Amino acid sequence: MTPTAKSGAKDRVTIFDTTLRDGEQSAGAGLTVEEKVLIAHQLRRLGVDVIEAGFAASSPGDFEAVTRIAREVGAGPDAPTICSLARAVPGDIDRAGEAVKHAAKPRIHVFLSSSDIHLMHQMRKDRETIMNMAVEAVKRAKSHCDDVEFSPMDASRTAPEYLYAMLKAVIDAGATTVNIPDTVGYSNPTEFGDLIRGVFKNVPNINKATVSVHCHNDLGMAAANSLAAVEAGARQVEGCINGLGERAGNASIEEVVMGIETRKDHYRVTTGVNTKELGPSSRLVSDIFNFPVQYNKAIVGQNAFRHSSGIHQDAYLKERTTFEIMDPERVGWRGEAIVLTKVSGRAGLRAKLKQIGYILSEDELNDVFAAFKTLADRKREVTDADLAALMSEQLRIEESQKGYRVSDLRVICGTGLKPEATVTLECPDGTLKTMRTEGTGPVDATCKAIDAIVAFPVKLTEFSVNAVTEGIDAQGQVMIRVQHNGSVYSGRGSDTDIVVASARAYVNAINRARTIRFEDKTAKAGTVR
Ligand code: KIV
Ligand code: ZN
Repeated sequence: MTPTAKSGAKDRVTIFDTTLRDGEQSAGAGLTVEEKVLIAHQLRRLGVDVIEAGFAASSPGDFEAVTRIAREVGAGPDAPTICSLARAVPGDIDRAGEAVKHAAKPRIHVFLSSSDIHLMHQMRKDRETIMNMAVEAVKRAKSHCDDVEFSPMDASRTAPEYLYAMLKAVIDAGATTVNIPDTVGYSNPTEFGDLIRGVFKNVPNINKATVSVHCHNDLGMAAANSLAAVEAGARQVEGCINGLGERAGNASIEEVVMGIETRKDHYRVTTGVNTKELGPSSRLVSDIFNFPVQYNKAIVGQNAFRHSSGIHQDAYLKERTTFEIMDPERVGWRGEAIVLTKVSGRAGLRAKLKQIGYILSEDELNDVFAAFKTLADRKREVTDADLAALMSEQLRIEESQKGYRVSDLRVICGTGLKPEATVTLECPDGTLKTMRTEGTGPVDATCKAIDAIVAFPVKLTEFSVNAVTEGIDAQGQVMIRVQHNGSVYSGRGSDTDIVVASARAYVNAINRARTIRFEDKTAKAGTVR
């Protein structure tokens, strides 16, 4: 029989989502508090058991995000557990405790390196010192809440005997979940399954805690390693929507959940996830992080349920299951039953927005409806991708209430002409300022005019334009990254006119640099936001 840890339901796997913590560590990501709260609401609809809302001690902005998520998403008996990461130092643990205390089910997740390579080069401490730090950290976390998770970082490269001893010590100190991270994505399914079996066999008090796993995807094996661990008895899996996370990312929640669901004959366990919300969650996260999902991504990629070859199509039309192992509806794959055009009404818009992860109040819907009608007048059909771009634009408009907003833009350009832009911005104090400048092209001229108005020194480091949809009437979505004082800030903008989209993206990046800089006064130089 497979050994399982503490959790009463031995056949139920706890899904721990870390999109808002490890996912936010993806280079080039960086969310505002508002964006994190919006994603957390969707994670609750998805039915994950634990939301790691952030790393409260890392910045005032993240402290606020964890606090708000604990209050707003973590309320009520059916709410998910809200968790904050903390290093094994008193200041971090107290800050995490302060932030999560508003949740109905708070958790503190303490981590500390355990492999010799980390101890020697990163921590520069010996094993005994680290062991004491781990125990003291868990005891301190326990003084804030009952639910304490401990992660020996780089566990898969840690000497097994030391790992077992550390797990025993932290469980004795009160850890209720022990998480085994494959921090650098080095393991493979056979080895990782054996490691988890080793933990069950060699940690005498292991039945007092839930065994969790946290796998990174450096070799593309994160989901496979997580599922191997489930086979070996692990009953919590950590991961991110769309497989986001440090470097190549974490195990993708949708792959782990659908692996368990689709092969329940094999794994014989369940999760509490509402799989129909996987598609909307993926689209919302992709949109807010501005990280496109690869077309052929398992479960949520746009080709995941498309059949192209004649032989496949023929068989599929005769019997769907010939070439489909999952029903696309079960993962909330977007159906095309409702087509939005300029004659569509609020009900259609609301239904489509829900499909892509946005649930709006009546007032919010009214605002979006007006913007939708303007767009629909310019486009034959408003697709899901258009709507996602429109919603991001709405979010940015709300955000720009604290910052600058593009009020008017005119450009002169063409063969033989010196490109020139006249930009009017609405400033945070409500005044309008106009500037006319020349540049090497219309976008350059526009950015120079914006620089002259805002007088906030940023360096543009990345600029990309994507067509949101196909066709000549497509909306252009511009993604910009700027640097300010060593930190990187991203901005997005969309419009059917790409110079307007560029101006919006540039202003959005500057607004984010200004706001996040003030939110995160302690953020270290070099962080990417
Ligand atoms: O990858 C890792 O080891 C982590 C820990 C903080 C759990 O993210
Ligand atoms: Zn990680």
